[in-house]
Amino acid sequence: MPTYWPRFDLSEFENSVPPIEYLDWYIPRLIQERKHNLSFSGMQYDWDIPNLLKDGIYDIGKKHMGKIEDPRTIIAKREGVSVDNVLICHGATQGINLSLLATITKLRSMKQNIVVAVESPTYAPLPQSALILADQVIRIKRYPPKNGIGNWRINREEWVQAINKSDILMITPVSNPSGWNLNSDDRKWIADTAHRSNVSIIADEVYIDAYRNKPDYHPMHKYGNGNISINSLTKIYSLGQIRFGWIISDKHTIEIARRIFMTFSGVMGSPTMRIASAALHRLDEVDAAIEYYRNENLPKLRKVLNRFSIIWNEPEAGIFGCFELPNKILAEDFADGACKDNDLLVIPGSMFCDSLKNWVRVAWSIEPKSFESAIFALEKSLESALS
Ligand SMILES: Cc1ncc(COP(=O)(O)O)c(C=O)c1O
Repeated sequence: MPTYWPRFDLSEFENSVPPIEYLDWYIPRLIQERKHNLSFSGMQYDWDIPNLLKDGIYDIGKKHMGKIEDPRTIIAKREGVSVDNVLICHGATQGINLSLLATITKLRSMKQNIVVAVESPTYAPLPQSALILADQVIRIKRYPPKNGIGNWRINREEWVQAINKSDILMITPVSNPSGWNLNSDDRKWIADTAHRSNVSIIADEVYIDAYRNKPDYHPMHKYGNGNISINSLTKIYSLGQIRFGWIISDKHTIEIARRIFMTFSGVMGSPTMRIASAALHRLDEVDAAIEYYRNENLPKLRKVLNRFSIIWNEPEAGIFGCFELPNKILAEDFADGACKDNDLLVIPGSMFCDSLKNWVRVAWSIEPKSFESAIFALEKSLESALS
């Protein structure tokens, strides 16, 4: 039986690189083009690129330096930092590698053996980049809430032990697949505990913009300590195709990351920079669309899950969440059985963690008409799986 969850060790792959197995599951199913799709981890917003760029569309392949507003300036202003605190890169996934390389570079002369603690459930490139670039990876967990509702929580004893053994901590504050932000006490505790142990935090904050207007919004770079916040236009802002991301940290760390970026990647491409520079001024249009989708789509999802007495722990913001299937049904079987029969694609929790085998992630990031028919397909799928 193949497994698809992220790997935290190199067993069977010593002197090699473990595959990113969730893609082995997901890509063939995306190619099937099932009619109903609740599988997206990103907002599906239809950007009108010619309208966004106006006459600039004709210059899309020409050099951009000096011709467009530097996206770093727009991001720095939005985040309340200086431009020297921002590095632009090719998406959050590259941001993960750059952050690890920069942090490891700062530690190399002091440490022979770099240990990285990585939160689980997670996006596979987080622990698996650490498996390539560092010497040891420790897995630490965030757990579903005991009564089923609210933030997923950490066990502080488990975390303090791992942090004490580590040089770097990698987390995803707004987590995939739960969609929940870190509990604010946990977040402060993690930042303080890591700081006390001289451990820098690399935070993949690719979903945090959904929480920008919530009291819990607090990117990890704001705690100093060499912490790095990673973000991109892929998920909340629906521009994954242009591969545009950024990292934010103190000037010293960013300068190291900038040199690493130039060594490995050279410069950003003109189409990406031109589209991002224009889109960064219009992100509020997507924020409004997310709110609209939440208002229109979530009541329909709640109603169906309620009909099957499924506990629905709805995240306070964002575009997806997850739930546990009744009767210990395996989510991979559900996705390829009842859901496939109803032409529906959902994501099994086993893509993120072995303990989420019975969980399913669903997104409400599609327009309400398509969502309504997808929810009907979900209802039919649950009916047949539970009959
Ligand atoms: C936590 C997390 N980070 C990053 C990404 C990918 O971001 P990007 O497309 O900017 O590389 C994903 C995609 O699923 C994700 O779940």
